[in-house]
Amino acid sequence: MTVTHALETDVLRRQDPELADVLLGERERQATTLQLIAAENFTSPAVLAALGSTLANKYAEGYPGARHHGGCEIADVAERLAVERAKDLFGAEHANVQAHSGSSAVLAAYAALLRPGDTVLALALPHGGHLTHGSPVNFSGRWFDFVGYGVDAESGFLDHDQVRALARAHRPKAIVCGSIAYPRHFDYAFFREVADEVGAYLIADAAHPIGLVAGGAAPSPVPYADIVCATTHKVLRGPRGGMILCGAELAGRVDRAVFPFTQGGAQMHTIAAKAVAFGEAATEAFAAYAHRVVANARALAAALAAEGLAVVTGGTDTHLITADPAPLGVDGRTARGRLAAAGMVLDCCALPHADARGLRLGTAAVTTQGMGEREMPVVAGLMAGVLRGRAEPARVREDVRELTAAFPPYPR
Ligand SMILES: Cc1ncc(COP(=O)(O)O)c(C=O)c1O
Repeated sequence: MTVTHALETDVLRRQDPELADVLLGERERQATTLQLIAAENFTSPAVLAALGSTLANKYAEGYPGARHHGGCEIADVAERLAVERAKDLFGAEHANVQAHSGSSAVLAAYAALLRPGDTVLALALPHGGHLTHGSPVNFSGRWFDFVGYGVDAESGFLDHDQVRALARAHRPKAIVCGSIAYPRHFDYAFFREVADEVGAYLIADAAHPIGLVAGGAAPSPVPYADIVCATTHKVLRGPRGGMILCGAELAGRVDRAVFPFTQGGAQMHTIAAKAVAFGEAATEAFAAYAHRVVANARALAAALAAEGLAVVTGGTDTHLITADPAPLGVDGRTARGRLAAAGMVLDCCALPHADARGLRLGTAAVTTQGMGEREMPVVAGLMAGVLRGRAEPARVREDVRELTAAFPPYPR
């Protein structure tokens, strides 16, 4: 029974009206504001159904056929389905679908390949690296010696010469390619070549683009990386969670790095929901969706640039746009607050080679709810009006309500 179904049948409302109101409030918020956070999406009712299923009750430490708990025969079927579907979808020899999150997947990848104190080369955090790529407040920065590569100050594109030079100088044990904010494709063949030259493992943290990869709208890291880490909840449109793909030779190390090294019992309801999402992502409809996500992001980036924002790298290859609102007279933090007041929800992010923060937004969710290239200039116009201070956020909030009403993410 999904939460929405439970609410519709009044089960939760009767038992716990306080919490039911919270869930209804969130459903209303998601439906009536613009979800422009690049890492979010609307899962299908089928994914929500699996998440709200009785598999949530099941303890299943271990892997199919080798569990520490009894009664896992049905849970095993769910996990095998998820694993097989992930392998088919991404052409991988091995898939681990137990990682609780993207961060857990990265932790497990490091645990499989590295020892504390090893040197790792990754995109520097101010240039778009994730916390798990060496932040001092994260396990990664505490346990490993991270060296950061960056993007070119002029173009905003990755500085490949710097990547090669740093790899030669520091001889890292692993190179990580992946970002929370870089809007362009990573050249996985290039990173493989550098990794081979210096004898490093290549870890692709494809948390963001993996859904585009599934839909054939972005290049796949699978043929190049030793380990691919991913989230299942961004463009991929699955439940909140992580996934790891690798070749057969690393399968045992990766599985042991997830359980028992970094995690306990698998979350079987989430794994079932991942299986549903992988099934959905293998369809032609999903491939068309993934391509529409990119087309919408390109249209939105162009419209934002036309409105005067400084779009990093001048555009995007993906679902993700990074932009500096400074030319409109606001910094990223102020911009995010004003936009939120107008019903447009997005993130701030670091801007490479700048002190001020910028904006990061994406088109995965608005595309799922059916918006297209026609709506993107409308969204950019609403944003620019608020950022320039020409339009009252409260009035724009009504325009946003009208726009979203035409594209309900879930049946009313
Ligand atoms: C590149 C990258 N790695 C790792 C993560 C971590 O994922 P999670 O929030 O599920 O831990 C993210 C999340 O946005 C990400 O973008």
